[in-house]
Amino acid sequence: MRITDLERDRVPEAVALWHDCGLTRPWNDAEADARRALAGPASTVLAALAPEGALLGTAMVGHDGHRGWVYYLAVAPGARRRGTGRALMAAAEQWLRRRGAPKVQLMVRDGNEQAHGFYAALGYTDQETTVLGRFLDPALQRLKERQRTR
Ligand SMILES: CC(C)(COP(=O)(O)OP(=O)(O)OC[C@H]1O[C@@H](n2cnc3c(N)ncnc32)[C@H](O)[C@@H]1OP(=O)(O)O)[C@@H](O)C(=O)NCCC(=O)NCCS
Repeated sequence: MRITDLERDRVPEAVALWHDCGLTRPWNDAEADARRALAGPASTVLAALAPEGALLGTAMVGHDGHRGWVYYLAVAPGARRRGTGRALMAAAEQWLRRRGAPKVQLMVRDGNEQAHGFYAALGYTDQETTVLGRFLDPALQRLKERQRTR
C-alpha cells in the first residue's frame, strides 16, 4: 500500500467511496470539495492505493492558516482493520507538520460510534468545543432549518 495525492481523474471514484462509507450528504457537493482541495495550495486529498492501484482509502487534509483539518477519511469496507485508516491519518499529520500546523482536528458526526473507537485508538480526544455553523448560501441554510424543525 502506498499513499499519494489523489489523481484528479480519480475524483469520481473517491466520491463513490465516500458515498459507500456514509460520508456524503445531499447538501454537500463532495466532488467540488475534492476538486477544490486538490487545486488549492493549502490542501490535498490523500489516497491509499493497493499495489495494483486500487483505491483503498482517502483523507482530505487542509491547513486554514491556524490549524490543520481532516475530512473524508474513508477506507473501503473490504479493506478495513488492516491499518489503512491509521496510515492515512499518519500521512495527513505528516502533511500538516511539514506546513507548520501546530494541531490537527476533525469533526465526527453524531452517531458515528465506530469512528470514535478508531480515533481514540490513535490518541484523538474530545476538545471540549461545540462546533457552530451556518450555510453561506441562503437556500441551503433554509433547507437545513426546515430539516431541523421536522
Ligand atoms: C474509521 C475508518 C477510517 C477506520 O479505517 P481502518 O482502516 O479500518 O482502521 P485501522 O485498521 O487503521 O484501525 C486502527 C485502529 O483503530 C481502531 N478501530 C478501527 N476501526 C474501529 C472500529 N470500527 N471500532 C473501534 N475501533 C476501531 C482499532 O484499534 C484499530 O486497530 P486494530 O485493527 O489493531 O484493532 C473506517 O472504518 C471507515 O472508513 N469508516 C467509515 C467512514 C468514517 O466513519 N470515517 C470517519 C469520518 S469522521
